[in-house]
Amino acid sequence: MHIALPELSLVALVGASSSGKSSFAARHFQASEVLSSDFFRALVSDDESSLEATGDAFDSLFFVGGKRLARGRLTVVDATSVRPEDRRRLVDLARAHDVLPVAIVLDLPRAVLEARHAARTDRDFPASVIGRQVSELRRTLRGLQKEGFRHVWVLHSEEEVGAATVTRVP
Ligand code: CTP
Ligand code: MG
Repeated sequence: MHIALPELSLVALVGASSSGKSSFAARHFQASEVLSSDFFRALVSDDESSLEATGDAFDSLFFVGGKRLARGRLTVVDATSVRPEDRRRLVDLARAHDVLPVAIVLDLPRAVLEARHAARTDRDFPASVIGRQVSELRRTLRGLQKEGFRHVWVLHSEEEVGAATVTRVP
């Protein structure tokens, strides 16, 4: 799949834990373009897995995201965003800055995510959490365009993710 991003957009990477959002971001975007919820958790609490820090982490992420968009910088949000209420805030942020919200969804088979999760040492929650995230995403996936995302690209397998290309169009 070819992903042609509007040059000035707010790109939501959407997917359960271990779907490969951070890997995708590292491959296709500059580090400074990517705002990751884990990174902001670490910034405010010194612990990237601290759930207790989630509120402060997202406040900070949205503040920086707003500054970037006001400066006309393409911005990628690397957070699970599997729930409509999480995505709502992203659409609102983009609209507040007259920027197009777009979504790249990594909807991989649950078995792939669970195998990756089992191999990770940086995620200590149970695999059932991933199952819930996948269910929530699939339940709401068809509504993304209606939520306000101007383009929605959905990648369904490791092969599709590996073959995806990203460019920017004026
Ligand atoms: N991974 C992989 N093959 C890929 C992409 C990722 O094996 N094509 C592995 C990574 O090495 C990592 C794990 O899968 O150990 C999760 O990838 P990551 O990009 O970190 O996933 P995220 O969606 O960012 O997960 P999280 O929401 O937990 O941050
Ligand atoms: Mg990640």
